Amino acid sequence: MSLLNLKKSILLVSISLYGFLVYSQTQPQRNEGVIADKAMVVSARVEASQIGTNIMKQGGNAFDAMVATELALAVCYPFAGNIGGGGFMVFRLKDGVKGSLDYREKAPLAAYRDMYLDADQNVIPDKSLLGANAVGVPGTIAGIFEVYEKFGSLPFATLIQPAIDLARKGYILTENDIKSFNWNREKFRKANDYTIPFDAELKAGDTLKLPEMASTLERIRDKGRSEFYGGMTGKLMLDYLQKLGGIMTIADLEKYKAVWREPITFSYKNFQITSMNLPSSGGICMGQIMKSIEPYKIQKYKPNSQKYIQLIVEAERRAYADRAYFLGDADFVNVPVNKLIDKNYLKQRMSDFSWKKATLSSAVSHGNVEIVESNETTHYSIIDPFGNAVSVTTTLNGAYGSKVYVPEAGFFLNNEMDDFSIKPGTPNLFGLVGAEANAVAPEKRMLSSMSPTIVEENGKLKMVLGSPGGSTIITSVLQNIINVIEYNMTMQESVNQPRFHHQWLPDEVTLEPNVFDDKSVSKLKKKGYKISEKQSVILGKVDAILVKKDGKLEGGADPRGNDAAVGF
Ligand code: DON
Repeated sequence: MSLLNLKKSILLVSISLYGFLVYSQTQPQRNEGVIADKAMVVSARVEASQIGTNIMKQGGNAFDAMVATELALAVCYPFAGNIGGGGFMVFRLKDGVKGSLDYREKAPLAAYRDMYLDADQNVIPDKSLLGANAVGVPGTIAGIFEVYEKFGSLPFATLIQPAIDLARKGYILTENDIKSFNWNREKFRKANDYTIPFDAELKAGDTLKLPEMASTLERIRDKGRSEFYGGMTGKLMLDYLQKLGGIMTIADLEKYKAVWREPITFSYKNFQITSMNLPSSGGICMGQIMKSIEPYKIQKYKPNSQKYIQLIVEAERRAYADRAYFLGDADFVNVPVNKLIDKNYLKQRMSDFSWKKATLSSAVSHGNVEIVESNETTHYSIIDPFGNAVSVTTTLNGAYGSKVYVPEAGFFLNNEMDDFSIKPGTPNLFGLVGAEANAVAPEKRMLSSMSPTIVEENGKLKMVLGSPGGSTIITSVLQNIINVIEYNMTMQESVNQPRFHHQWLPDEVTLEPNVFDDKSVSKLKKKGYKISEKQSVILGKVDAILVKKDGKLEGGADPRGNDAAVGF
């Protein structure tokens, strides 16, 4: 099997089985999700949504709830929730001020451009995905302390205690958890030199206790941020990584910083959309797609009809071609962000689009933008009773990250290094290709697709949303924005809708299988679109909140997982 095919099958299998699990083909129906008057958390697990909501019941704000929810997910959703990974938060304060926090992982100081290639410049299979060399310097603990110090209102111990209790007392395993553990069992064994707790004989309904994770969280509660970036927890992590042949050192931990960044905001009709800027491609790529389709009267086409899919796919194709070429960590490379979302540039990019037939990706390259030289994931959405909104996507990258599980400290480490372009043109776990802009360099952040997003209508809070799904995050979030703002769907209807995806390369439209209308699919095929709907692929897992016209909150929890909305 060629490396490309191998990567592609890893991508498909990972998307279909890594905890998203098989999507029971729910037909969309007019229905509303959970409704609340004042506050809500929608996340991948009911335990985490409940913990975040309880914090707000105790008087905490959305940022307090963020800290509690993030840590709860690290316990009961080890598939993606983490303290050994990283993420992004986009927020909107009640007065309309917006901002974002980047707690993305970084390449270790000893990392170098060709570290995943052998002497013949061939990619070493799995080196960027499995085991100690796949691990980027984790950002999550730095992230929650930044959030807490800037915006937290309750004592930190109050925010972390529910996660400690959850780890100590245990949580009940679902069918999805068990399938996902079984699916990854072999890799857990390959990546570790001992038996990790998720490799035990477990069945749905069992209570899984994680005492080592509980003790780690207690140490963080008592000693603070430095416990992770230099204390016993950091030491346990580094000792294990070094034993397994990893390159991370104490200097990497000491130098790590979460960074407050300007999010990207663009307009679409009466709406203002704010999402993550570099090192995530999410906001830029979504902005490119939305601004490319804005001139078209999209409401003329039914949702998921042939013309609707065609228009969005063609905009996606062009945006992802730009992503592959231009985007990387803006602290290291010069990215022409404003030009890329400029409406005239995008009009010109769409000028060779024809309704008559598919544009071939081979005929689409990155756009002509002059660069002036000067130089497996989870999303949760929160709105608090004060009107603050928080949108967070956090990840270990693949399911359970590198599968490296720190002994005595009880947590998984990410395999985020695979989000770099490890060799120009070589697809990553999500089939994405990249170029020099996203090459590995010491201390650089790897390009992400994570798109925690906030939508305003005429300046007022409208939606908080985001998704996991690697490259499909951007297109999943985008389709949900369109479902609500163009087609007036409820949040739950929107989340339930079938989704499709195109990312320039490979040149195919991925459809969630057996849920699209046959006529639209055959019309697309006739126009030359290659359709892929064979596997039980699911695209994204969107957890969102809609502020309804009457001011109440509606949760959209994705039925593709065990996701849940809790509010009051
Ligand atoms: O940052 C990124 O874009 C990826 N590491 C996200 C991974 C992801 O969504 C995993 N879930 N399927």
